[in-house]
Amino acid sequence: MKIRVRGGDPTAIAAEVVIVPMAAGEEDGREMRALARRAGGAAVKRALAATRFRGRSGQATVLPVQGPRRQALMVVGLGDAARIDAEAWRRAAGQARGLVGTLGATRVVVAGGARANDAARLAAFVEGFELAAYRFGKYKSEPDPAPPVAELIFVVADPPAETSLTPVWSALEVTLASVTLARDLVNEPAAVKTPTYIAELAKKVGKEAGLEVEVWDPKRIASEKLAGLAAVARGSNEEPRFVRLRYRAKGAKRRIALVGKGITFDSGGLSLKPAKSMETMKCDMAGAAAVIGTMTAIARLKPAIEVEGFIPITENLPGGKAQKPGDVIRYRNDKTVEVLNTDAEGRLVLADALLLAADTKPDAIIDLATLTGACMVALGTQVAGLFANDQALADRLLAAGAETGEPLWQMPLVAEYKDDIKSAVADLKNIGGGHAGSITAALFLQEFVGSTPWVHLDIAGPAFLEKALPYAPKGGTGFGVRTLVRYLTSLADGA
Ligand code: BES
Ligand code: MN
Ligand code: ZN
Repeated sequence: MKIRVRGGDPTAIAAEVVIVPMAAGEEDGREMRALARRAGGAAVKRALAATRFRGRSGQATVLPVQGPRRQALMVVGLGDAARIDAEAWRRAAGQARGLVGTLGATRVVVAGGARANDAARLAAFVEGFELAAYRFGKYKSEPDPAPPVAELIFVVADPPAETSLTPVWSALEVTLASVTLARDLVNEPAAVKTPTYIAELAKKVGKEAGLEVEVWDPKRIASEKLAGLAAVARGSNEEPRFVRLRYRAKGAKRRIALVGKGITFDSGGLSLKPAKSMETMKCDMAGAAAVIGTMTAIARLKPAIEVEGFIPITENLPGGKAQKPGDVIRYRNDKTVEVLNTDAEGRLVLADALLLAADTKPDAIIDLATLTGACMVALGTQVAGLFANDQALADRLLAAGAETGEPLWQMPLVAEYKDDIKSAVADLKNIGGGHAGSITAALFLQEFVGSTPWVHLDIAGPAFLEKALPYAPKGGTGFGVRTLVRYLTSLADGA
């Protein structure tokens, strides 16, 4: 999609549609009056009144009147004028993108006015617009009837210099491509995206982006004593893999480790899930997908830092060799864990990855995992749980999440609940006492990071949607990629 930014009269441009973003109560505002003047006067005002458009967030409509060059005129709500942030622009753009699709428009003008003068707002619009256009279409016989948008033209009161925008668009393109990669991986059926498939794909996209890639097979997994990964993998006929992705910039002052849960299908193992709960369990590698996506974006954006991704990948199935409730796992640091529920497998494989990551002595470890249904109960599908042993690190991620529209909410690591993960026969057990399931899961992970500053993101809710959001269709969302890219690039900026 080509993006242009210019001044002048939006209705003078030959395009199929002119989008007018509007705040609540601005139906008679300056932009609208100007538009009415250019596009037929009273007819536009009457049409707008007929649609009962109020500029509220989520409202978008095509007016029953055309512009002077036969353009469709579309109004889209930005919500309360006093509270228009980047997210308001993303949502409005996502809403608009849906309608643009139904119109089949390929050349689109946005009448941004004075409100859209700065690059951050334009970028937020493009982001919402592009993210909303995502489709996972490879298994559909009928292709998506909506043609791609070829050109998006912003008309603003005071256009920023072209040279200041070019790097904004190219960085955005890199990040969005990585979100698409993560979404595609999550949406791919588990029969296709086996652990070997994900490892090979990580190798391919990693190499293309310029990352160092290491893939460990079962022999290496055994020799490295990744006991949790090996134990979970025993129930499956598919071989597990452990992937390491490395990015190194010269003169880097910070080194960050990313860890992503890569369960390509979670049946629960012998502690089998009910059928309904299994329907979405191809999404249980969304943490891994987010780490792969983030690493490829970072390799292309080249910030002055070092980042290493640690990704344990396996299926969780109840085969004849499957681990059983009551089994004990001995980790590479000799910590032992009694497995009382094989469906709490995420923490078992993450423990290996966290131990390895901590061994490399990074400045921080950030893990992403579709870890607990309990977190989904607590925070729903639009907010991820954040747990941290370091408040400064937590604050930076909370800020990055707020800026990208991927909300994170900090949950407490209640030390008193550690009693709930004590085992009668081993050092720990892999389930808690029945309450606060997302907290006891996080407390379990904390046992494997030592004193390294660490943030755990439980993305069980927002990783996969069963109901579309303004700029995320149903299915994999790529949640975490945009926040991590923002956080990591901000470290390099010295901010
Ligand atoms: N992958 C699931 C968590 C999950 C649930 C992710 C719903 C996305 C949507 C995880 O492995 C799991 O099964 N957790 C159990 C833990 C329990 C057995 C202690 C859960 O949440 O029920
Ligand atoms: Mn599970
Ligand atoms: Zn799982």
